[in-house]
Amino acid sequence: MDLQIISTLLTTFPKIQSSVVEPVPEHIAIYKDNVKMANYSSIRWDWHQMTWQEYYGTGALKTKKFHFITAIHVMYYFEDLEATVHQLLDSLVDGGILFMIIRAERPQDLEFVDRFAVLGTNIFSEYNAATITKMLQRLHIKYDSIRVRSSVDITACFDKNDQEGQLLLDFIMQTIGFQDAFPAEIVKDVLQCFRSSQFSEKVEEKVLLRNDWEAIIVSK
Ligand SMILES: C[S@@+](CC[C@H](N)C(=O)[O-])C[C@H]1O[C@@H](n2cnc3c(N)ncnc32)[C@H](O)[C@@H]1O
Repeated sequence: MDLQIISTLLTTFPKIQSSVVEPVPEHIAIYKDNVKMANYSSIRWDWHQMTWQEYYGTGALKTKKFHFITAIHVMYYFEDLEATVHQLLDSLVDGGILFMIIRAERPQDLEFVDRFAVLGTNIFSEYNAATITKMLQRLHIKYDSIRVRSSVDITACFDKNDQEGQLLLDFIMQTIGFQDAFPAEIVKDVLQCFRSSQFSEKVEEKVLLRNDWEAIIVSK
């Protein structure tokens, strides 16, 4: 998604300086490979293998400000969301744009988290767009937001012998080997919940888990 956005920006701004801040070395390596494949020769890249908070803490942004910052599906990992949003806005030039993408709020997520409290953290317990927009409203920061319909094909999650399906289930539940990590009754209830019309829709023979997301845009 970040590269798609940069490609779009290139059509208006042919020269771009892009700073990538990412703590996981493997993720930086994948991003670098994607950059090489797409041949973005008119972009100057600088890479910072650290968290955003660490990067901000280096003081490098006292003298350097950005025109555009993307935070795409990353807000879930920020411990102090409010402080981080302040840092991101502080790192923009006046008129600059902070572009965030995050899962949309779904009322049924709260029910899921209450019902399956024993499961601990999972995608349904993460921050969502409402967490951000409520915070921005409280801070009197103006924003625009767009909700985009999206879904994930989870059909394979119901087949215990399908390796990819089980990995997807592990990802959703944020638990390695989810099917064996909890009592069979609980796993069955979770899967039944996913199949219900509250969470998914059936299209032909596929089960599509609703996974809408929101883009939230703040102009400084
Ligand atoms: C779900 S991925 C999204 C990556 C990319 N933006 C995309 O859309 O494909 C979230 C990324 O945020 C990174 N991350 C986690 N905590 C972070 C932090 N505090 N600062 C910067 N990046 C962080 C993770 O290592 C991971 O690569």
